[in-house]
Amino acid sequence: MRIVVLTGAGISAESGVPTFRDADGLWEGHRIEDVATPEAFERDPATVQAFYDARRRAVASVAPHVAHRALARLEGALGDELLVVTQNVDDLHERAGSRNLVHMHGELRRALCTACGARPRWDADLAPRPPCPVCGERMLRPDVVWFGEMPYELDRIEQAVVACDVFVSIGTSGAVYPAAGYVALAAAFGARTVELNLVPSDPMIPFDDARAGRAGELVPVWVDEVIAARSS
Ligand code: APR
Repeated sequence: MRIVVLTGAGISAESGVPTFRDADGLWEGHRIEDVATPEAFERDPATVQAFYDARRRAVASVAPHVAHRALARLEGALGDELLVVTQNVDDLHERAGSRNLVHMHGELRRALCTACGARPRWDADLAPRPPCPVCGERMLRPDVVWFGEMPYELDRIEQAVVACDVFVSIGTSGAVYPAAGYVALAAAFGARTVELNLVPSDPMIPFDDARAGRAGELVPVWVDEVIAARSS
């Protein structure tokens, strides 16, 4: 049984990583367009670098929780039949043990060199403008996909979505495309669709099974159901 799991900020909320679309519409006190666009970086690189340096440090101080671990457990049972596609730039899925994983919006723990295109692992601050370890230019930015930029590995994701038997959306508001369109694509190709989210989202087509609640409660239960169904 081939399963694609799409995750968003909601799966990391219980680890202490804030979601994007909070009640005040701000992300850690900033308007998204002031920190998450190429234009913002061009206008005020120091503010953008400091913002992502703070996010990188914050993520280093939190840990994966039962929902991340349950998805790693599912990969243990399904192997390559499970692909986790995350919109999150934190590394909580891999720290929980997921390996078959796509970071479609990039990773906080990588830098992107705008001079040579290298994407080195990165745990330090970028605000001091360190040199690229590959080309030496001081042109590193966070390797996160900003609004108006192309997400990573879209071909691989779309191939998995059209081929899957079950598509599961966890902790995402469905506000940002192309990720928000995957449920419709999966359904069009015959997959069963499941949503595990704090509040039901409003997709173009309804999920076959929409469960409302915290990821920490819903994900382990759903994973147990899948593993039990496979072994029965
Ligand atoms: N358990 C499950 N779902 C939760 C929880 C929780 N504990 N807490 C919040 N949620 C849900 C919210 O109800 C909301 O539907 O998670 C969703 C988070 O939505 P967003 O904040 O919009 O995050 P996301 O969907 O990941 O955003 C997509 O937008 O800003 C860009 O690039 C950024 O990857 C991000 C993209």
